Amino acid sequence: MAKLAGSGKSVVDVGTDHGYVPVYFAQKGLFERIAASDINGGPLESARASAREYGVFDRIAFYLSDGLRDVPGAFDTVVIAGMGGETMADILSACSWAKDARLILQPQSRVEELGAYLKSAGFVCQRALLCRDSGRCYLAFSASAGEGGFDIARALLDSRDGLLRECVEKEVIRVGRAVSGMESGSAAPEAGITLMKNKLSRLENILREVNSWQN
Ligand SMILES: C[S@@+](CC[C@H](N)C(=O)[O-])C[C@H]1O[C@@H](n2cnc3c(N)ncnc32)[C@H](O)[C@@H]1O
Repeated sequence: MAKLAGSGKSVVDVGTDHGYVPVYFAQKGLFERIAASDINGGPLESARASAREYGVFDRIAFYLSDGLRDVPGAFDTVVIAGMGGETMADILSACSWAKDARLILQPQSRVEELGAYLKSAGFVCQRALLCRDSGRCYLAFSASAGEGGFDIARALLDSRDGLLRECVEKEVIRVGRAVSGMESGSAAPEAGITLMKNKLSRLENILREVNSWQN
């Protein structure tokens, strides 16, 4: 997240939990104004503890807040990591100034729904990257208002992300199994099966492109 965020004037980390991201920003002096928020008191307290432990408590403002609702002022950069894509879309759509901010997002699920919201809100995906932890792939990306549509896959393909093949192969297996399960059962609606099949086909197209430049 820090790699994508770089530096700037002001940043808020929404759903900060342990607070490591704002602590890192403060330690490195990357932003002039740094805030951390969480909807729950326990995580916010652990963010405060991290800031104390690393000697940057006075550099970070802490807010107990659902999304950005009770975080005062506007920020140039909004970081949100480790939540579902639909929660991120809810948080961003409820905030009047977020459309002008640079977003650094790491959704845990519902990436396509989040992408659809960002596209409708006029954002462009600027940079995307993958990382792996304990064998699991994670996606993070930056987005800002702009022209040209919202395409995370294109950003990953254009940067020739070194983990793209591995992560897409895993996703193809996961979605392929889901499609087989839906087709062999009787409960899944036809529209749901079609959605998953379209997703699988988009993933296979990405894999074909990756294979074309790796061969
Ligand atoms: C899995 S943790 C992610 C922590 C950290 N951002 C990371 O990526 O490692 C999710 C955090 O988001 C907080 N959270 C969930 N919904 C939220 C919301 N609507 N507004 C603010 N924080 C929220 C939770 O309390 C929790 O601390």
